[in-house]
Amino acid sequence: MTDTILEMRGITKTFPGVKALQDVNLDVREAEIHAIVGENGAGKSTLMKVLSGVYPAGSYDGQIIYKGNEQNFKSIRDSEHVGIVIIHRELALVPLLSIVENIFLGQ
Ligand SMILES: Nc1ncnc2c1ncn2[C@@H]1O[C@H](COP(=O)(O)OP(=O)(O)OP(=O)(O)O)[C@@H](O)[C@H]1O
Ligand SMILES: [Mg+2]
Repeated sequence: MTDTILEMRGITKTFPGVKALQDVNLDVREAEIHAIVGENGAGKSTLMKVLSGVYPAGSYDGQIIYKGNEQNFKSIRDSEHVGIVIIHRELALVPLLSIVENIFLGQ
């Protein structure tokens, strides 16, 4: 029995002329908090967009295993359905709303 809730395995994502992610692995265990750190263009946002289905299954190589099942998200709707939620940074926020209201925007 493992307490790993998320595994990203060998994630490779290519845009025309750019390899944004090459063979990236990420393991997250229950109750862990991780920070993905890297310089501009390192691929942080791309990795999170792969995880959340912004870039759908088939548009990248590698596997996403969440709560023991391989996931093939076709859209953010699919990832949200299993409990993966991305809070995008400042440009997507509503300044007049509270932090909590911003987090639940769209629900
Ligand atoms: N939609 C896209 N089309 C083409 N290239 C892209 C696209 N999105 C990202 N890239 C390229 O992929 C690489 C990774 O970009 P990404 O935005 O994931 O980096 P980042 O780590 O989030 O950077 P930042 O710290 O600036 O937010 C960069 O070389 C970037 O130019
Ligand atoms: Mg980014």
